[in-house]
Amino acid sequence: MTKRERETQRDFIDLFYHGTFRDDFLWGVSSSAYQIEGGWDADGKGPSIWDNFTHTPGNNVVNNDNGDIACDSYNKLEEDLNILRALRVKAYRFSLSWSRIFPTGRIDSVNKYGVDYYNRLIDGLVASSIIPMVTLYHWDLPQALQDIGGWDNPSLIELFDSYADFCFRTFGDRVQFWMTFNEPMYEAWLGYGEGVFPPGVKDPGYAPYRIAHTIIKAHARVYHTYDEKYRESQKGVISLSLSTHWMEPKSPNLPGDIEAADRALQFSLGWFAHPIFRNGDYPDAMKWKVGNRSELQNLATSRLPSFTEEEKRYIRNTADVFCLNTYSTKIVKHRTPQLNPPSYENDLERTEEDDNSWPSTAVNRAVPWGMRRVLNWLKEEYGDIPIYVTENGVGLKKSQIEDIDRIFFFKTYINEALKAYNLDGVNLQGYMAWSMMDNFEWLQGYSVKFGLYQVDFNDTNRPRTARTSARYYTEVINNNGIFAHLWRT
Ligand code: FCB
Repeated sequence: MTKRERETQRDFIDLFYHGTFRDDFLWGVSSSAYQIEGGWDADGKGPSIWDNFTHTPGNNVVNNDNGDIACDSYNKLEEDLNILRALRVKAYRFSLSWSRIFPTGRIDSVNKYGVDYYNRLIDGLVASSIIPMVTLYHWDLPQALQDIGGWDNPSLIELFDSYADFCFRTFGDRVQFWMTFNEPMYEAWLGYGEGVFPPGVKDPGYAPYRIAHTIIKAHARVYHTYDEKYRESQKGVISLSLSTHWMEPKSPNLPGDIEAADRALQFSLGWFAHPIFRNGDYPDAMKWKVGNRSELQNLATSRLPSFTEEEKRYIRNTADVFCLNTYSTKIVKHRTPQLNPPSYENDLERTEEDDNSWPSTAVNRAVPWGMRRVLNWLKEEYGDIPIYVTENGVGLKKSQIEDIDRIFFFKTYINEALKAYNLDGVNLQGYMAWSMMDNFEWLQGYSVKFGLYQVDFNDTNRPRTARTSARYYTEVINNNGIFAHLWRT
């Protein structure tokens, strides 16, 4: 490609597009329990692995921050509902804290106060005509279940099913949109591979694959429970939220780079999506690479476990809609890494880099056109399934109210989602901005702000203040997309 061609291509992908989404498009915002609730031991709540992790010094959380109080949403339910109503969202995606409901992770420990909190939240949403979208598990495993091995113990499948069953039975008369897991890929890799997330296991070549295997089975199990016991009366949908960056090949004319970019998508999103949305089995690229490298490592079997035929039948088609979390794009190049020690990172046989011309944010580069490409890739890979973007947003270091950068982020990303919907025919049915307000951003603590609303964490009342981007997002919702201002001829 000549320089001029590259420039033309860039101009083209940056073109702005005006239009609207389908009439019933589901506009919302997202959050998660540990990141906002606080009340970490209130009213009988049991500790989760994130409570214990942040309470242990030396775990590399910025400023040693923790979620003990966070946004204090456990005590500020009305304030949260006010934000949601002011934003005029049609849906709110939040997660349930398993150890608030079952302090030990098991049904015999059920905690009435935890159940009450979620009942009040769900009732408040329904009374405000806001659709609750509920994630059952957003990384905060009850510590008592970690003590028996966490997701490395297959008995978690039954325990997760019993918790999910309780939630369907208790909240399902008002909740019709369920997600089992949030981004299990990060939990598997960061929690059990790199070990920088709890439970801090550093076993990069084996544990992530084992954990993912159990999580996929647990997801399928819960899907069948919903299907068999609740779907008929509750009429909801159930899925899980998966995430990936868009992966752009470094040299689009090198087959090795094209394959490496596709492989990177398969190892992140496809790892879970291929079994669940395709055929009950892992992507070929994973079976092939992990299998080959295991053989070269003189191992008797592949480090990637396999499903039996019966398991495959049980796992495939266990999601009604596709829920995607996406934030950024990476440039991918083929690489042949060292063979030992075994590692998921090396199994990918690629390098990932940023393009310096892309605007940086506190966490990722902002690359709006990656949104359109990843949505198109989903359609190609998994067919014409309804898609919801369940997280997309930008983390900034500055806490200012006039957050022009965030407005620019949402405007350009939503614009690319609109192109995917209107120009490319992607079946996009909803979009949830991450996040409704600043919150505990995992290893970054409170140093990174993702909120449409600012939260003052130095004030014990945790006051919330609308940023300029909150007004902008409401305008997008009211217009159901991005209008051409005809008066500006
Ligand atoms: C996602 C997580 C979410 C939030 C955003 C910024 O990976 O699901 O909890 O931290 O990133």
